[in-house]
Amino acid sequence: MGRAEARPPNTEPPTAASAPSRIESSPKDAATRARMHPTMHEPAVRVDAIRKTYGATVAIDNVSFDVRPGEIFGLIGPNGAGKTTTMECVEGFRSPDRGAIRVLGLDPIRDAHALQERIGVQLQEAQLQKRIKVREAVSLWASMYPRAADGDRLIDQLGLSEKRNERFMTLSGGQKQRLFIALALINDPEVVFLDELTTGLDPQARHAIWDLVRGIRQRGKTVVLTTHLMEEAERLCDRVAIIDHGRIIDVGTPVELVRRHCPEHTVVLAIEDPATIARFEVVPRISSITSDGSRVTLRGAGDDLVTEVIQCLAEHRMRVTDFRTEVPTLEDVFLRLTGHAIRD
Ligand SMILES: Nc1ncnc2c1ncn2[C@@H]1O[C@H](COP(=O)(O)OP(=O)(O)OP(=O)(O)O)[C@@H](O)[C@H]1O
Ligand SMILES: [Mg+2]
Repeated sequence: MGRAEARPPNTEPPTAASAPSRIESSPKDAATRARMHPTMHEPAVRVDAIRKTYGATVAIDNVSFDVRPGEIFGLIGPNGAGKTTTMECVEGFRSPDRGAIRVLGLDPIRDAHALQERIGVQLQEAQLQKRIKVREAVSLWASMYPRAADGDRLIDQLGLSEKRNERFMTLSGGQKQRLFIALALINDPEVVFLDELTTGLDPQARHAIWDLVRGIRQRGKTVVLTTHLMEEAERLCDRVAIIDHGRIIDVGTPVELVRRHCPEHTVVLAIEDPATIARFEVVPRISSITSDGSRVTLRGAGDDLVTEVIQCLAEHRMRVTDFRTEVPTLEDVFLRLTGHAIRD
């Protein structure tokens, strides 16, 4: 269940949620979010050692993480890693074989009814009746909740104004995706779950949706999303959990994860006089120097590497004709931790 059809919320576990009354794009800092959430120490979502098998396939095992109120939390991992299975357990669509889950302090299965009005869900492979019009779908969803957001406004905010009277089957993949996000926001939920938020969208639509998600956070909501796009995780998520082969490998902010697992930085520069390369040998942070004619690659750990290299260049008045730095990304972290790239 759960994957095939996005049903109106009263007929099945939560499928939709509600509309932001306004969209803002500047993220709030952690201190402001803490003020908005006095019970910040209580997680919005707590997942404790859950396991789920499908026959002989162990989809997820011993998965644990907390999502803090007001943050954008990402589950990142390659196809088949267990992201959707984890999300569907948290949303109450699937029952884990083992372990415990709390969403806003409630049990997603036992308290499904109470949670329905407080969470919003966008499914990875949702479908709607093909002839339903955009505005009809939004009104139908809105009618299921006592406290629904302004559907027309939501349609505008998601860039669907021109498609308001179009049928679902005539929408492009990206437009369907936006409609599902609109439906997930229709009840103004406290926690929104977005599975594969921007898969299949063009870069412009992707950026628009990132802004929308930041707007949801700005309004004090908690967002849990899955993605296999590292750039998306890095730019959008406050914290991420890396999942591979059904297990959580590490959890942290993107910056923390990069510092922890890939602390090395690289500076590549072109110096006018190759004979001066020896001057880099005394720079404390540099652990390796390689050169190819005038092109020099300097490697070392820590944020100060670049500053020290620049100081060395200035001190010796070395002329540089090219200079660039290479800072590791979450993609590198993933490769380091799992031994394979996310898109293998
Ligand atoms: N209904 C199911 N029946 C049997 N096996 C399943 C089912 N759903 C998922 N699986 C298996 O469980 C594992 C995890 O799948 P899941 O859909 O959770 O991964 P995912 O990380 O969401 O992948 P994707 O990035 O492709 O969406 C995979 O090995 C998958 O084949
Ligand atoms: Mg999935």
